[in-house]
Amino acid sequence: MDFSIKSGSPEKQRVACVIVGVFESRKLSFAADLIDRISNGFLSDVLKRGDMDGKLGTTLVLHAVPHTLCDRVMLVGLGKERDFREKEYREAIKASVRALSATAAVEAVSYISEIPVKKHDVTWMVQEAVVATLDVLYKFDRFKTKVEEHPRELRKLTLSVSRRSDLAEGETGLARGLAVAGGMKLCRDLGNLPSNICTPRYVAQTAESLATEYGVEAEILDEDAINALGMRTFLSVAKGSIEPPRLIVLKYQGTLATVQPVVLVGKGITFDSGGISLKPGEGMDEMKYDMLGAATVLGTFRAAVEMQLPLNLIAVVATCENMPSGGASKPGDIIESMSGQTIEILNTDAEGRLILCDALTYVERFNPQAVIDVATLTGACIIALGHQTTAVFSNQDHLARELVTAGEEAGDRAWQMPLFEEYQEQLKSPFADMANIGGRPAGSITAACFLSRFAKAYDWAHLDIAGTGWKSGKDKGATGRPVPLLVQFLQDKADALSGHSLRRGRPRRDHEESAADDAD
Ligand code: BES
Ligand code: MN
Ligand code: ZN
Repeated sequence: MDFSIKSGSPEKQRVACVIVGVFESRKLSFAADLIDRISNGFLSDVLKRGDMDGKLGTTLVLHAVPHTLCDRVMLVGLGKERDFREKEYREAIKASVRALSATAAVEAVSYISEIPVKKHDVTWMVQEAVVATLDVLYKFDRFKTKVEEHPRELRKLTLSVSRRSDLAEGETGLARGLAVAGGMKLCRDLGNLPSNICTPRYVAQTAESLATEYGVEAEILDEDAINALGMRTFLSVAKGSIEPPRLIVLKYQGTLATVQPVVLVGKGITFDSGGISLKPGEGMDEMKYDMLGAATVLGTFRAAVEMQLPLNLIAVVATCENMPSGGASKPGDIIESMSGQTIEILNTDAEGRLILCDALTYVERFNPQAVIDVATLTGACIIALGHQTTAVFSNQDHLARELVTAGEEAGDRAWQMPLFEEYQEQLKSPFADMANIGGRPAGSITAACFLSRFAKAYDWAHLDIAGTGWKSGKDKGATGRPVPLLVQFLQDKADALSGHSLRRGRPRRDHEESAADDAD
């Protein structure tokens, strides 16, 4: 799939399909209106017949529209004009791409990217259009021996910007959009791979080739090296499996070495059977997704490096399997963590926090400006927030706020949860410094409380993506979330570091001026 950015009149596009928007109650967008005028009211006539009313996400493909040079004109419903915001914009783009797949058109020029969304510039419009398009087109079919060949698959989408002077911003948006989408694809592919292929060693190899491809530093630690570091809690989880664990460290230096790095830490349980505290069988296949924290970290790292963000970034992934065996940890076992704190393992299925706690201790050495861990940590998180919203926990409210804001901006929402001291009580153990579970009430909070005890040395946030990382049912698969949130967060950090904001660049001007400087 290729993208390009262009400025020009819709009626003059010599292409298989031109895509324009229609608001509810049949109000035409600027580009639709141009086509309507040149075709002597062809679109208005069609709309009057009532086949399309502009409801958000509806589409209608028209053929042989008079005085245009394209084979088809697609009308896309935008909903009520005064309600047209970020979400509606993304939805309109997605609806148009889905409808395109049902036509024989392999090239299209979309004017949806010109429809103003309050407070957003051309860069944002194009970036979001690219991310939304590639999100819809994503497929995971590498294990199908008979891949349905789609000779009519979309090959090129041109996104229109209002004026030629917008082209540069459009190109910036395109580059950023491709970076985010590339990161999401890496995350989804890793997540969707079954655990017999996506083992800890496979995750490590993926990270290594990523580092080679982008020319950044990679360090892969094997079992002996992990042992030498004293990461006993991490190893207590890994030891139930015949698959050896890996600790992955990737380093990207995008600015002066003296600038403290942002560190991302990912939970990479490539399969979570529960261990000796075995999970019930139903739906256990979904525990191949228990490495999505790791996949998110690698996907975000890839995007940030591709965008060459001016900041320093370190990705750390702890990856292993959680399996029952004669060598596995047993309920009641007590382990001394890398930090020196001791842990009574009351449930071997609460393993994510056990591998992350040592990783959080390990990253102290990088003198980070912030550490963000990402994990499919608790089923309780799904009870609290469902599948819409990622949970954010932090020992610094400002950091939680920055993450929530970035999620809002990227259409990848998150919500702050409390980490009040009182919840720490639930982790008390009479035999060790703490237990690894805190009972049924507030399960995602007590899990975060557990992690917080290992993150005292720096500003830290934890994202629980148990509900948002993947979907079940007929659309099952990894979502690529929260890569967009984290890339936005890093972009905002980079903007702040370099003292200016590209994202909040010059506000867009109105469409009225655009007819004058039309190109072809
Ligand atoms: N990976 C799971 C959490 C999970 C479960 C995510 C289902 C998404 C869907 C985690 O390792 C786990 O098993 N957590 C336990 C903790 C409990 C034993 C305190 C849970 O949530 O049940
Ligand atoms: Mn578990
Ligand atoms: Zn798990």
